[in-house]
Amino acid sequence: MKDKTSKWILAAGARPNFMKIAPLMRAIQVHNNKRSPNSTKISPFLVHTGQHYDFNMSDSFFKDLRIPKPDIFLGVGSGTHGEQTGKILIEFEKVLLKEKPTLVVVVGDVNSTLACSLAAVKLHIPVAHVEAGLRSFDRTMPEEINRIVTDSLSDYLFTHSPEADENLLKEGIPKENIFPVGNIMVDSLLFNIKEAKKTNILEQLALMQKSSEKPSQPITEYCLLTLHRPANVDQKESLNRIVQALLTISSRLPVLFPIHPRTRKQIKEFGMESFFEFHASPYLDSGDYYNGSSLKARVHCFEPFGYMEFLNLMAHAKVVLTDSGGIQEETTVLGIPCITLRDTTERPITLTQGTNVLAADDPQKIVSEVEKILDGNLRKVACPPFWDGHTSKRIINILVR
Ligand code: UD1
Repeated sequence: MKDKTSKWILAAGARPNFMKIAPLMRAIQVHNNKRSPNSTKISPFLVHTGQHYDFNMSDSFFKDLRIPKPDIFLGVGSGTHGEQTGKILIEFEKVLLKEKPTLVVVVGDVNSTLACSLAAVKLHIPVAHVEAGLRSFDRTMPEEINRIVTDSLSDYLFTHSPEADENLLKEGIPKENIFPVGNIMVDSLLFNIKEAKKTNILEQLALMQKSSEKPSQPITEYCLLTLHRPANVDQKESLNRIVQALLTISSRLPVLFPIHPRTRKQIKEFGMESFFEFHASPYLDSGDYYNGSSLKARVHCFEPFGYMEFLNLMAHAKVVLTDSGGIQEETTVLGIPCITLRDTTERPITLTQGTNVLAADDPQKIVSEVEKILDGNLRKVACPPFWDGHTSKRIINILVR
């Protein structure tokens, strides 16, 4: 009997996509290896749009997450939202016409997600959206537009929480197209956490003495920060409000800040560099990042860390401050307190069941939430159902069926 083979294109473009694509690629490989003779073989074709292109925003993630080299790199790069989305649409359509896949799989909510699903649907190619149904109900966020449009175009909508299912049903998506499968990012987290904890980033940052010098050293308490949303960093006033909070916090415990290129640019433009201490890139400098004597009273900036290093830092942080989406979920799974520097979240389950709290850009609220944590006032956590490391397997089983 002839093998039934189905070509699927998986599309990724920006940093938060890569940890969602990795478990899917792995689950496809497992399916192909274990499948019965009459079940479909999947031929995956990985497209990297090139929305993110710096080594530490892209290549380092492929390496850490052991994602196979993309079959094609579109190299669209940066631009306005219209330019970036338009370029991906044009280039991705060419790939679809040439490769003729039976399915396109997109993940998350970045411009690449929207552009790739739109190109596919125009060519009548079914689209599967992983991480569907998230809504912040704030249409000034570019990701919110991407979510709404991608979901309205998709044929298979894979969700990670009951709230996401409800959002889709309210928007008129048929129930039979919605598949509650759990959180794909947790697949990556649970798969990698053990190895991540073996990285020597804590020693390199002088948060812990080198293990060769003394076994099981205590770890210096620190706050881990990520900040890159246009709403927080593109206006001087809101960035300044957050900086005021950071200066207060950093007098109590060091703030470690792997800095996104957008934020780095804005800090320079607003002349705020003196509030921060910039350290050498981990990839250029094999030594320690900074010496322990300057640990306190500063916000310490670094080039973005790799996936493994960041996971290790997150797992040992006293508190995480962030405006990212995924980190709100990862901290919940790790049981680490998270203060989100936004006034809405598309991930409300992290507020009701997890470790997350919203503080917007309000300096008083941010500082008082950190103080609660330092005083030992911690929230109880319950990891949501299906956030168990098996989401990618569920997705592949459903799609093959
Ligand atoms: C994108 C996603 C956002 C996600 C974030 C994670 C959209 C709408 N936004 O935002 O949801 O949380 O990625 O990182 O898709 N740049 C570089 N090197 C790079 C990439 C970007 O220097 O490898 C700089 C460029 O100056 C660029 C700016 O960062 O203009 C912003 O990049 P862009 O991809 O437009 O959006 P992000 O802010 O990264």
